[in-house]
Amino acid sequence: MLPADLAAEGEGDSLLEICTDGGLPVPFGCTVGKCGVCRIELIEGELQEPSRFEQAVLDGFGCESGVRLACQARTAGDVTIQPLGGARRNPSST
Ligand code: FES
Repeated sequence: MLPADLAAEGEGDSLLEICTDGGLPVPFGCTVGKCGVCRIELIEGELQEPSRFEQAVLDGFGCESGVRLACQARTAGDVTIQPLGGARRNPSST
């Protein structure tokens, strides 16, 4: 778990871009929504609704509600997140 006092600011970029630009250690791989390494849990706040593509990827990984892909998610205000990190095989991919 990351220290609770880490913060970054940004607008219009993906959550991953905001975190990496702000020096927050969110794991990532492909940056295009395929590998699932950048999965985060939304602890507090709001993110924009997932795109159909992001939702399909999340469904493929069997992610629970509240889990998002940082490289695809865009903020809708202040958020608190917990990176889940680590490679995880998407059972729907070949
Ligand atoms: S970095 Fe691969 S899905 Fe986000």
